[in-house]
Amino acid sequence: ARVDKAGYRHFMAKEIAEQPTVVANALAAYIDEGGMPALPVDFTGVDRVVLVACGTASYACHVAKYWFEQIARIPAEIDVASEFRYRDPVLSPRSMAVFVSQSGETADTLAALRHVRGQVAQVVAVVNVPTSSIAREADCVLPIWAGVEIGVASTKAFTCQLTVLALMALQAAKARGTIDDAQIAAHVQGLRSVAGLMNVAIDGANAYPAVAQQLAQARDILFLGRGPMFPLALEGALKLKEISYIHAEAYASGELKHGPIALIDADVPVIVFAPPDGLFDKTVSNMQEVMARHGKVLLVSDAHGIAEAGEGVWATITMPSVDAVWAPILYAVPAQFLAYYTAVAKGTDVDQPRNLAKSVTVE
Ligand code: AGP
Repeated sequence: ARVDKAGYRHFMAKEIAEQPTVVANALAAYIDEGGMPALPVDFTGVDRVVLVACGTASYACHVAKYWFEQIARIPAEIDVASEFRYRDPVLSPRSMAVFVSQSGETADTLAALRHVRGQVAQVVAVVNVPTSSIAREADCVLPIWAGVEIGVASTKAFTCQLTVLALMALQAAKARGTIDDAQIAAHVQGLRSVAGLMNVAIDGANAYPAVAQQLAQARDILFLGRGPMFPLALEGALKLKEISYIHAEAYASGELKHGPIALIDADVPVIVFAPPDGLFDKTVSNMQEVMARHGKVLLVSDAHGIAEAGEGVWATITMPSVDAVWAPILYAVPAQFLAYYTAVAKGTDVDQPRNLAKSVTVE
């Protein structure tokens, strides 16, 4: 079926706005009547998960590593597909290999899948296009139910990938008995409420254009986060580079003092993803190191976080409060909006940025 912009100025804006619906669809596809994850993957005997992807999909894997390890206590290894097979990875018949791809046609990801075949317990494809090459060649396919994604900058596919990977981590936790059924059901409930909170975050779109006007003047922008918000920082920087052509880099906040802090001056905006979580105080102290060097901090947190740490920052974006564990799904929205509105302020081609293809089918 033909997909149009449905009144939005860009496909990217439409796809950002669709996220509450498609994330809910992805959840509905894999939750049973008892409110438990029910994916067709089997973690029995699996002692390691290997996650491989490119670009935005690789950041979804990076977030999922935290979930697999923290919730299911299963070691998770991540790599970008273009490196994975060339490093001759150590694989075992007790590993589950997971390939994440919106298109299912990314050449590097497909080649990585072919590399592991026969060497691991199960090859799982987490894809948006269930008829794709990656889907066809996997043992098990988990469609992410995002619907057609047209914008070159991936948005709704990312949050749907995160949703399916979150459920996989919960299913692994069940198989391994790391948490009990009541805790798993509570986590599933938490995931369900994220879809609703995304609506609130999207309704807050009018907070971005003014900030984006300023970001559009910058030559370099840094993104910071700790724990699973670090991959979110990576995703925010990628999105901004892709569509606004502004140089952006992301760091785990604690790494700042090991080098990148030398970049900070009054002209460098620093975007900090800091939902109140176990690492909040540490993130805030890293943020204060930036402010002490006159960096322009944009703090993205909830009302509590902003009340606690927002004094003296250049700007804030207020998010609804969310279960810390699922914050990466919700905070994808500000990462996307910051890139989107900055690109709009610069007047770039948001849906078809220069030099990029929606799906990279060459190595
Ligand atoms: C993200 O905005 C990208 N344009 C790009 O990084 C993309 O995520 C990557 O090429 C992987 O594509 P895939 O998910 O279709 O495999």
